[in-house]
Amino acid sequence: MAPFASQVFGHPSGHHRQARAARQAVEDARDQVAELLGAAPGEVVFTSGGTEADNLAVLGVLGAAARRPGQETVVVSSAVEHAAVLEACRAAAARLPGVEHALVGVDTHGVLDLERLAEALDARVSLVTVMLANNEVGTVQPLSDVVALTRRLAPGAVVHTDAVQGAAWLDVALAARGVDLVSVSAHKLGGPKGAGALVVREGTQLEPLVVGGGQERERRAGTHDVAGAVGLATALASVAKDRDAEAVRVGALRDRLADGLLDAVPSATEAADRKSVVPGTCHLCFEGVDREELVVLLDEAGVCVSAGAACASGALEPSHVLAAMGVPARIARGSIRFSLGHTTSPADVERALAVVPEAVARLRG
Ligand SMILES: Cc1ncc(COP(=O)(O)O)c(C=O)c1O
Repeated sequence: MAPFASQVFGHPSGHHRQARAARQAVEDARDQVAELLGAAPGEVVFTSGGTEADNLAVLGVLGAAARRPGQETVVVSSAVEHAAVLEACRAAAARLPGVEHALVGVDTHGVLDLERLAEALDARVSLVTVMLANNEVGTVQPLSDVVALTRRLAPGAVVHTDAVQGAAWLDVALAARGVDLVSVSAHKLGGPKGAGALVVREGTQLEPLVVGGGQERERRAGTHDVAGAVGLATALASVAKDRDAEAVRVGALRDRLADGLLDAVPSATEAADRKSVVPGTCHLCFEGVDREELVVLLDEAGVCVSAGAACASGALEPSHVLAAMGVPARIARGSIRFSLGHTTSPADVERALAVVPEAVARLRG
């Protein structure tokens, strides 16, 4: 990325040689992203990250659908989507005439209820949005079933997946085969913050959210973030190269951490079924503990964990994901996500195993 933030400083929409060099970098990055996500280069729209990609998918498709005369339309989402999808669905229902939002629940492990999905699908549905992997508990969703059901029961609908959390661990080209719109974010892959992309399959009707200079084939105006596009492509390529070996290595570390903590901490529980969870996520509930207090204690001991989605004020929202899975509020209150990745070592896991049981005991005491 560094040369594109300093030396190759041309404006990619310009026409002189410096501009052409910047443009070439964006187009090379587009080719790379397209190949890694199983898309054609013209189907890749660079965005400012996962949130914008999700917003563009939801509001863009529903904006186009709502303009078709006299038609009521429905967006169907899972109940455990990231706020970038859920709030976009809610905004579409609030702002666009004739748009309804239908939520489909999950089972106790966070897996989409396909029977309920089938019941929600009919000819009025224009968009179905189901994430590849969940950001709180890590559950991977049955996307190929979602695509098959949608094609059969709501043939006019397009399918979107938020692959922001799944792309580090799964081959998106395979896992999202047949999906019309795919969101990714660079910073979940070791790339820069503030860069992402939406794959928009050729023929998908989509209204732009950002209009102006007509960049990205009129789907997302604004001067390109050249370094961001290069960073996203490089991060995706680097993850793809080591994905299988890393999934095995990190999965083993996660199992050691989860099993060790389930053994060492009385009445600790694991919300999701580990068999269908991405290798980098270890989500545990420690009943009788306040997760915000646990985060602070662990931070002091050098273990950085997440207590769920923080809103802009930094305060914790109750987890809609755990609520949808039927986890009682008193247990959800003590839930923590340990995230493991390419920098996580066995020593990190041993450190967490040494620190967490004591911290939980202290808070319970
Ligand atoms: C599943 C999921 N979707 C979307 C986003 C938003 O992506 P970004 O932070 O790039 O806006 C996140 C970020 O945490 C996420 O986990």
